[in-house]
Amino acid sequence: MIIAIDGPAASGKGTLGKRLAAHYGLRHLDTGLLYRAVAQAVLESGHALDDVARAVAAAQALDPTQFDEAALKSHAAGEAASVVSAIPEVRAALLRLQQDFAAAPPGAVLDGRDIGTVICPHADVKIFVTASSEVRAKRRAIEMRRLGQIADEAAILADIRRRDERDSKRTVAPLKPAPDAHILDTSDLDIDGVLRHAIAIVDKARSGAR
Ligand code: C5P
Repeated sequence: MIIAIDGPAASGKGTLGKRLAAHYGLRHLDTGLLYRAVAQAVLESGHALDDVARAVAAAQALDPTQFDEAALKSHAAGEAASVVSAIPEVRAALLRLQQDFAAAPPGAVLDGRDIGTVICPHADVKIFVTASSEVRAKRRAIEMRRLGQIADEAAILADIRRRDERDSKRTVAPLKPAPDAHILDTSDLDIDGVLRHAIAIVDKARSGAR
């Protein structure tokens, strides 16, 4: 079984992906980490984020087993990822890795922006997770404070809106729900509620009903 989860920044899709994978005994890939790692490699090599050749080389050399997830999860890495992810050649270089991950038994949960539309258009279940930008900014601020970081909620909100805009308006694989995706608005739900709703969606889809 392949479950595709897409949604905007800080919508909770990563946490949902992890928990859904554990629930169904599937593997999980947070595809945002791939773009974050490409951006980090380009910056570490001292080049600009829009250096296409460098970014493609970084994408081709990625080794997800070596990822430092904590470093990649920084706010700055997310911003940088959103720049390299708009380069079509970078997306093309990461396509195979994601599709191979999805295809390996026993199946997988992938979360990102274009899983249901581009990477796994034939996924068994597609969920588009969303929440208001204010709710997402609040959640991100709480998470940062829990990690001992300083969080300016207004600045986070501005960043989230800018990133949504960049991700939605780019010409290649823009952030948008697949026509057959189930929309899950998490604005008024906690993570247990989100998981419950998602399991109901998956179980219903697997039993053939929609
Ligand atoms: O999901 P996350 O916030 O980690 O993603 C970081 C950035 O990577 C996003 O803002 C988006 O630009 C890019 N991304 C993407 N396609 C994916 C996953 C992430 O373009 N499948």
